[in-house]
Amino acid sequence: MPTVKEILDSMDYGPAPESSAEVMGWLGARGAFGHYIDGGFTTPADTFATENPATGATLAQISQGSAEDVARAVDAARKAQPKWAKLSGHQRAKYLYALARSLQKRARFLAVLETLDNGKPIRESRDVDIPLAIRHFYHHAGWAEMLADEFPGLAPHGVCGQIIPWNFPLLMLAWKIAPALAAGNTVVLKPAEQTPLTALAFAEICAEIGLPKGVVNIVTGDGRTGAALTAAPVDKIAFTGSTEIGREIRRATAGSGKALTLELGGKSPFVVFADADLDAAVEGVVDAIWFNQGQVCCAGSRILVAEAVANTFTERLQTRLSKLRVGDPLDKCTDMGPIVSATQRQRVAALVSAGEAAGATLVQCEGQLPAAGHFFAPGLLIGADPANPASTEEIFGPVATLTTFRTPEEAVQLANNTRYGLAASIWSENITLALDIASQVKAGVIWMNGTNLFDAGAGFGGMRESGFGREGGREGMLAYLRGPSPKPRPEAQASFDAAPHPGAPGKGDPAIDRTPKLYIGGKQARPDSGQSYRVTAKGTEIGLAPLGSRKDIRNAVEAAHKASGWGKTTGHNRAQVLYYLAENLSARQREFESRLREMGANPAEAEATIARAFYYAAWADKFDGAVKSTTGNMVTLAINEPFGVMGVVCPDDAPLLGFASLVLPAIAMGNRVVAVPSASMPLAATDLYQVFDTSDLPGGVVNIVTGPKDELAKTLAQHDDVAAVWYCGEAEGRTMAEAESAGNLKATWTMSNRDWTDAQGRDFLTRATQVKTIWVPYGA
Ligand code: NAI
Ligand code: MG
Repeated sequence: MPTVKEILDSMDYGPAPESSAEVMGWLGARGAFGHYIDGGFTTPADTFATENPATGATLAQISQGSAEDVARAVDAARKAQPKWAKLSGHQRAKYLYALARSLQKRARFLAVLETLDNGKPIRESRDVDIPLAIRHFYHHAGWAEMLADEFPGLAPHGVCGQIIPWNFPLLMLAWKIAPALAAGNTVVLKPAEQTPLTALAFAEICAEIGLPKGVVNIVTGDGRTGAALTAAPVDKIAFTGSTEIGREIRRATAGSGKALTLELGGKSPFVVFADADLDAAVEGVVDAIWFNQGQVCCAGSRILVAEAVANTFTERLQTRLSKLRVGDPLDKCTDMGPIVSATQRQRVAALVSAGEAAGATLVQCEGQLPAAGHFFAPGLLIGADPANPASTEEIFGPVATLTTFRTPEEAVQLANNTRYGLAASIWSENITLALDIASQVKAGVIWMNGTNLFDAGAGFGGMRESGFGREGGREGMLAYLRGPSPKPRPEAQASFDAAPHPGAPGKGDPAIDRTPKLYIGGKQARPDSGQSYRVTAKGTEIGLAPLGSRKDIRNAVEAAHKASGWGKTTGHNRAQVLYYLAENLSARQREFESRLREMGANPAEAEATIARAFYYAAWADKFDGAVKSTTGNMVTLAINEPFGVMGVVCPDDAPLLGFASLVLPAIAMGNRVVAVPSASMPLAATDLYQVFDTSDLPGGVVNIVTGPKDELAKTLAQHDDVAAVWYCGEAEGRTMAEAESAGNLKATWTMSNRDWTDAQGRDFLTRATQVKTIWVPYGA
């Protein structure tokens, strides 16, 4: 036996395994699992094995859910939903409390079960996954209690289909189920095929606490089951997983009217400035990339370090790396377990090799890896250039790239050099610098001098190709609620006559100056086609409008990008411009009224539009974010940020008010807009050019391209530099706008024509912004 002195010298740990006896007994008693539908388990059928990735041993047989299984689960959820929603918030809260308490009672059991099925170290499942899942149910019991007061007028979607991945099995279940139930929805959840066991244990808990049958249904299976759930008659789909499948789901649900939230992949930067506390940052890396074997969507997988401290930092990181203990995940001393499956391990290995082949140097932890199981040594890829696949692809394993930067500008540029925008960690002792960087990094969650912090009270979710929608906190609740349906109105009969006007001059014609123009970058611009189209009202031609094309849309997007200062200016400044705009509109009210009358539109739109401009001027500096109550030594800010450049496709009906109802809230929040006005009555919008000019609206904030609505809308939806698209129109166009937005996964809001007189309010502002959550050390 070693002496105490020897132990203190070597700092060696003996094995300290957590017992799996209770869990193995539980699994043994069941052997095979059916689905949990309508309050009971089905007979296991068409089964496949779920394994322990640390040993390769089979843990249990799981049923592959068929389309019929999914249909029965959705039926059960549908039948249960009205009654569940009718319960008082207090009654639903009691069920959520009961779930939280039962999870708490079983915390140890669930931690061991999670570790066996997923391979994550028991320290993580015990100290992170399970406590956070429990906290989620408690937190949302509170939201159920407060629902009527805090979300007046909102209603649950109905039945929610929820699809989750294998990296945080019970925690992702909690993130999905708790808010859905609190809001009065019922659910059908499909866990990942690699890690279904804690979801099935959760199903038993639902039965045990007497949750009404059909409120929670769990259908197991692989991607085919997920696809069946996506196609089933549910009212909302919430998905967490790969960007590739997220894109597929976006296309599959386009035009279905199903609400959608997507939490997808990431390639999050971990930025270390020269004045950072380097030892703390080294520990941060351990949490950012070696936590959960790097199988974390928000993993800080791109370490960017200031050149001045790069050598010191890298040395310390390598020392720390060499001390990581990789092995039996049930051992309480283990830092890292195996990768979840052989397939994932191969994927990680292939990406790391590709990174090396493209010029990066791999430094890996040298310890002996266990012979069985899907272990992969944690490491760093040093010197990967921005084009290296290791810098661009999500590795989803315990290997981060490490590159250097010289200036803060370069750090921001590297940080944003990705298709993703999920999270970022920023390390600096200089608050001015750190917050300045936080304001510039495009990510849904930012941690200052910290990493991978989560809490039920804070929003979590991405920008760009990391998806849309937030989970957690108030914003997460809003994702499970919907507003009242507005009063529908038939669309105007679009009399779009795409044939060029015979009198329209071609390019280079001196008469060109007399043709109507588009409005791009604050200037009137000749359409690329050089052509106009006829605008008719009641069979009479009332004017010409410029025939815009794809090229014009692209120019307008470029102009909108150049006007980025609008998003950075204060709400007060934006309010001033909008007030001025309202006044200038007022001065020309009669003119607009007669123009509307001439087009056969309602002249009262003019007055309503003026009121709308005053309304959003008032809001411009008041749509505040929040400070969230999360963990003790952090202040968690939720900032409403504009998307950036938005495409807004307006109704054919209500040519002035419809346009204003959509464009004004978007610009009030700091977005720049490329708007496609009513195709059949565009003149009301084009008459606004002079009003914009005289109102000091900076060029490029509003750009107007008239022409064939759906062709222009398609170009906007496909454009990679457009972050969000709103589309008002018929079903076919709505489907197109959503499907075409899948490319860069832009947030979409599609709607049919409505009564526009009451089309204003907070909902428009919520839709025009995305929440950036920033965690700042506070009172530590
Ligand atoms: P995946 O996206 O295929 O799986 C996630 C979930 O979606 C699972 O429940 C799966 O059964 C389901 N699914 C698969 N195909 C589906 C379809 N067509 N329709 C509906 N549901 C479907 O992810 P996978 O294959 O497990 O991992 C591949 C890569 O995805 C990882 O290497 C990683 O880069 C990324 N990933 C990201 C996650 C995140 O948290 N953002 C989580 C898991 C994976
Ligand atoms: Mg498993």
